[in-house]
Amino acid sequence: MTNGSSCSPSRPWWKDAVCYQVWPMSFKDSDADGHGDIQGIISKLDYLKDLGADVVWVSPTYKSPMKDFGYDISDWSDINPAFGTMEDMLQLIEEVHKRDMRILLDLVITHTSDQHPWFLESRTSRDNPKADWYMWENGRPGHHIYNTRTGVDDKVEQPTNWRACFGGSAWYYGEERDQHFLHLFLKEEPDLNWENPVTRKAIYEAAIGFWLDKGIDGFRIDTVNRLSKDITWQDVPTKLVGPLQSATHVYINGPRSHEFLKEMRVYMDNHPRVQESGQELMLVGELPKTPMDDVMRYVHPDSRELSMVFDFDVVDLAGHDSPDEVKAHETKNLCDGDPSYTLLLFKETIIKVQNLIAAGGWGTVFMENHDQCRSIARYATPEPQYYQKAAKLLCLMQTTLSGTEFIYQGQEIGMLDMPLHWDYDDFRDPGAKLYIDEEFQSGGPEARENARIGNLKFGRDNGRTPVQWSSGKNAGFSDADEGKCWIGVNDNCEAGVNVEDQQVDPDSIWHFWKRQVAFRKEYREVFMHGSFQCLDFDNMKTFTYVKTAADGLTALVCLNFSDEVQPITAPDEVLKSRSLEFLTGNLGQSLGREQPLAAWEGRVYLLKAPLHKAIEERLRRFPTDVHLLDEAFSKSLSI
Ligand code: GLC
Repeated sequence: MTNGSSCSPSRPWWKDAVCYQVWPMSFKDSDADGHGDIQGIISKLDYLKDLGADVVWVSPTYKSPMKDFGYDISDWSDINPAFGTMEDMLQLIEEVHKRDMRILLDLVITHTSDQHPWFLESRTSRDNPKADWYMWENGRPGHHIYNTRTGVDDKVEQPTNWRACFGGSAWYYGEERDQHFLHLFLKEEPDLNWENPVTRKAIYEAAIGFWLDKGIDGFRIDTVNRLSKDITWQDVPTKLVGPLQSATHVYINGPRSHEFLKEMRVYMDNHPRVQESGQELMLVGELPKTPMDDVMRYVHPDSRELSMVFDFDVVDLAGHDSPDEVKAHETKNLCDGDPSYTLLLFKETIIKVQNLIAAGGWGTVFMENHDQCRSIARYATPEPQYYQKAAKLLCLMQTTLSGTEFIYQGQEIGMLDMPLHWDYDDFRDPGAKLYIDEEFQSGGPEARENARIGNLKFGRDNGRTPVQWSSGKNAGFSDADEGKCWIGVNDNCEAGVNVEDQQVDPDSIWHFWKRQVAFRKEYREVFMHGSFQCLDFDNMKTFTYVKTAADGLTALVCLNFSDEVQPITAPDEVLKSRSLEFLTGNLGQSLGREQPLAAWEGRVYLLKAPLHKAIEERLRRFPTDVHLLDEAFSKSLSI
């Protein structure tokens, strides 16, 4: 990687990378048809480079019926014409590399589209050559499960009582075979049968080998802990009202998960281009609902599985993203002041990943992606007088934590959630529509309205409104006629939430992100790799931590997550130390260190030698209830 990092077996290039996720539908439209495309991405590569991105992760642009906006793939080795051509994609790879950046593509291999030729064949009979490439099961005699969603399945005998992630049964009936196929997501996304070694090999060649040949630098691996399921197909206990039950505990981190990933990794490592270049691929997996010791098994270098994961605890906070367990409108944010979401719980999710790194694993720093709402209202405050400070506060946190950094498109200008007046017809996410339909069917208009509110708060469309490049037509995203974009444009683009206006304002959120990314690189040993110690775990208003580099350089990070003035929580020796220097903060100027933190203020100080040893000692003795890495945990790690 550029900017002074050096690669070594223990320091592969991707540890120091600042990554930027592009969700192509909403990034930049080059041909005025109202949705983004590959040429649009190419036109913004200089912008990404300027921001400080080293890696561009491009969400799926493969051939797809787009029922799940590209995560339903009907051909991994072809490009969806709506996004461009294979030549466009090859050009994108080349243009990224020309700028000394790297590119990750999405690897979606838990399921395909129901229009994938493999599935079309598999569904025709019980004895065709691909009959067992997907997970087909017989209905269990007498196991009638009324399915409010699909109608056709109504009163059909089903294999299990599992509920799909977006609602309804996880099984769908195929008449030709008189059997059901498993779909953990939409019914248009049948799950592949990873138990079959012939299928696995075919997946590796079509989805992985093809793109490694094209020169990409790694993959973001979709739903990586759902490849292996418990295939004894048991009903799960009833916890929810109604017949369908959340079964994540039986299909997440299934019995053969690690075996499959190790096998896939061997395929990647042995790929001729990887062998020839000697380059270490970057593999980042999506990993919800996994305790720390099991996360470690995925990311420990000796496991040879993944480089890192997106640990979902931070985005699942207070039950969000579990529509099957908690109704979205009942889920709280920090600003709701509800005990189900406190700063303390937030800190725990952060500390989990920092501890994972301290124990020899590696992690990611992220708060947004295309499946999440925007971070400002979720983790801080959307209040007009504070939201810019809040955006910068989160940026300060994100750029000072150890791990590989991920910025999601629009985060760098503080994009906010969709407008509150949006309703069913404005939403595009199939999961949102299924949720609202189901609530309406079971609870009538009031339940429907609650579901709408829940969707405004947490729905995936929040992260999918077009990137706001300017205050002009369609926020500069597209030259299509006004109102003709595939999803509405947030009109706050006219109130300064856009790239063009922010680039000319040195105090903008955009400039702040750019500066912070530069600091992160300049002090990479502290911010990307430094050890982490929380100083105020029990404090419900502030988050204060120190990061320490191997050579002793230390940073003190003080973040006020409240509307009130708060004292700085750090030992006097540190605050009074002559070697304490203000580095950066979200108020734009250095307030005296004796000054308390203003509402939503964040500051970062550096402690330069020579006092650091004494300070280290003092910090160790500072009274705090930090969840430091517990030794029992590290001993119990069985890789
Ligand atoms: C992942 C993707 C999400 C998609 C789902 C099913 O979670 O990020 O967008 O809907 O997988 O493929």
